[in-house]
Amino acid sequence: MNKLHEWPEPIVRVQSLSESGICSIPDRYIKPATMRALNDPCIDEEEDEHVSIPIIDMSGLDDDARRATTLIQISIACREWGFFQIVNHGVSPELMDRTRETWRDFFHLPMEIKQDYANTPKTYEGYGSRLGVQKGAILDWSDYYFLHFLPLCLKDYNKWPALPSRCREVFDEYGKQLVELSGRLMKVLSINLGLPEDHLQNAFGGDNIGACLRVNFYPKCPQPELALGLSPHSDPGGLTLLLPDDNVAGLQVRKANKWITVQPAKHAFVFNIGDQIQVLSNAIYKSVEHRVIVNQSKERLSLAFFYNPKSDILISPAKELQTPERPALYQPMTFDEYRLFIRLKGPQGKSQVESLKSPR
Ligand code: OGA
Ligand code: NI
Repeated sequence: MNKLHEWPEPIVRVQSLSESGICSIPDRYIKPATMRALNDPCIDEEEDEHVSIPIIDMSGLDDDARRATTLIQISIACREWGFFQIVNHGVSPELMDRTRETWRDFFHLPMEIKQDYANTPKTYEGYGSRLGVQKGAILDWSDYYFLHFLPLCLKDYNKWPALPSRCREVFDEYGKQLVELSGRLMKVLSINLGLPEDHLQNAFGGDNIGACLRVNFYPKCPQPELALGLSPHSDPGGLTLLLPDDNVAGLQVRKANKWITVQPAKHAFVFNIGDQIQVLSNAIYKSVEHRVIVNQSKERLSLAFFYNPKSDILISPAKELQTPERPALYQPMTFDEYRLFIRLKGPQGKSQVESLKSPR
């Protein structure tokens, strides 16, 4: 754990680098050729333009005539994609815009103000510029802000920004509405897996779940073809609701060895399955690798809301989803133990959830 007390190298804010007007990026942001986004032989440009993740209208769940079809659409999207956009999800569009613009204003505050919230790898809360503590690692082209909504014992306003004024009220309301939406989605996923509707929520610890927010800020990058905003990874937690930038795309989802760029629909959330749901569903649902590319002329801001199990509860495949032909694929593990990996190593594709497979 000692390794998690401090960063291995002095922290450089990517935003400061970007604003300094450099024409070439420092070596530590240059990804090896095989990881770069453009010139990627995996991308079939034509396919990339025409294939997109599903968009699901959640209002269908409250309409008797459409409920069954909507459940099926979600079921297919979970099995085949693990990633989809949701619209008419019940979160206020005004609140979505206001929250995103308030965070944008935060990132445009003077650096001295943001530095007051500088984070450490111990909890990651606050203003950060790297994931992982490996000395000499090639870094991603992004800064972020990380904070907790739940459990309440971890919610600490002192670790939330105080500016822009009244921002805490806005962020609080956003957290509340996203916790509620996540609870609804947990029920839908349980039903679609053939489990009692409260199965996943109970397995996550009932009312004691975790909910946190990472706001990603991707500054303009003078050499976007050499860097990545966020390296390929699957989300370690339960489920993720991403509010992407409304001006610029950047998120790419891996589908059969191709990277598909997500084109955000208006006031949609991008929903995706995290590693803990992969484990609980015994890999009927899989967390999917994704990454972020950067842009030379536009900065990008996204809000990733993570809904996670209580951190010290053992997570293992649901008994109902284990059969003689398909025994439990994973050993029980707490989320605390699980996320140590990403906190030490940073984003590493799907290597962790893959390494957990029980010997067969
Ligand atoms: C994340 C993430 C995507 C984005 O924060 O885990 O995948 O578009 N973000 O910023
Ligand atoms: Ni992610």
